[in-house]
Amino acid sequence: MTDDLDALRAETETALAASPDLRAWDAVRVGILGKQGRLTGMLKELGKVPHDVRRERGARLNLLKDELAAMMETRRAALDAAALDARLASERMDVSLPPLPRAAGAIHPLTRTMEEMTAIFGAMGFTVGEGLDVQTDWFNFSALNIPAHHPARADHDTFYLPGTRDGRPLLLRTQTSDVQIISMLNQPPPLRVIAPGRVYRADHDATHSPVFHQCEGLVIDRNITLGHLKGCLTDFLRAYFDIPTLPVRFRSSYFPFTEPSMEVDIGWNRRTGDLGAGGDWLEILGSGMVHPRVLANVGLDPREWQGFAFGMGVDRVTMLKHGMPDLRPFYESDMRWLRHYGSNPLAPVALHEGVA
Ligand code: DAH
Repeated sequence: MTDDLDALRAETETALAASPDLRAWDAVRVGILGKQGRLTGMLKELGKVPHDVRRERGARLNLLKDELAAMMETRRAALDAAALDARLASERMDVSLPPLPRAAGAIHPLTRTMEEMTAIFGAMGFTVGEGLDVQTDWFNFSALNIPAHHPARADHDTFYLPGTRDGRPLLLRTQTSDVQIISMLNQPPPLRVIAPGRVYRADHDATHSPVFHQCEGLVIDRNITLGHLKGCLTDFLRAYFDIPTLPVRFRSSYFPFTEPSMEVDIGWNRRTGDLGAGGDWLEILGSGMVHPRVLANVGLDPREWQGFAFGMGVDRVTMLKHGMPDLRPFYESDMRWLRHYGSNPLAPVALHEGVA
């Protein structure tokens, strides 16, 4: 024999099984156990039930309440799990799909080299200075102890421009050394500056372009010696070429703006082109102790301040580092070449180890 309690249990079971989601489930719950729910109503009516059956019915009702609450919990857990499964299924991604094409460009090798130089010298405390592509002959030559009619002027195949600035002839700068003068005029010593930038000379073949790049360096302080120059450039070259044992040789030379002057060579194998060993020497940069006359030209007392300077070809060291035989593609904007030699714009420039 079933009575109204058994019927309620059976109905609840059916209604829960039929509830497709948490909303429907909650409606069932409220209809049975809510304030106006059917079971709650039966409990309220208990007072009207005849005395002799009230006790037993009350006990059964309470048991039924617990039983129904447990049934509801079970159904709710099942619905929760189903909802999570559905969400996981709808948000699934197929990791085997090919990636979307990347629209990012590539960093030009020359730009990357200048970024690397900035990182390496930056770690040594250098700041970056800038010169002017259109410069007067005073900054480019005279202040650097290369007066008019000095033979070094003839070496530079200079592009002169019409007009003057400050009464001086204008030209396209032939070297980044103008930044030495600019830095010393604008900033009281001590100073450490590098200046990567564009320079111009009337020269064109596989290893010369009328536009190319140099990186200048200048250190001015009270007690700077040749030892600082040698240590600084040796550290730089080994970091840039990423060869900790790279042989470095300093060879006496001549530049009008340094005294003494030195050319710097690195060890390589002339036959294979490999850097770092092989018994041959390759000239890589010019350097020297800043000439007292250059210091005097910018109003510094050479008895108080000394320093060293250096300059190197950015294109040249880039070609050497990456084994590029020809300079011309640097300036031809060939997308295939740029994609091949360019570097990832999202990859940070490595700060090379061994530079303090
Ligand atoms: N400006 C020189 C050139 O174009 C390179 C150079 C040599 C720069 C010696 C320097 C230096 O600062 O000290 O050939």
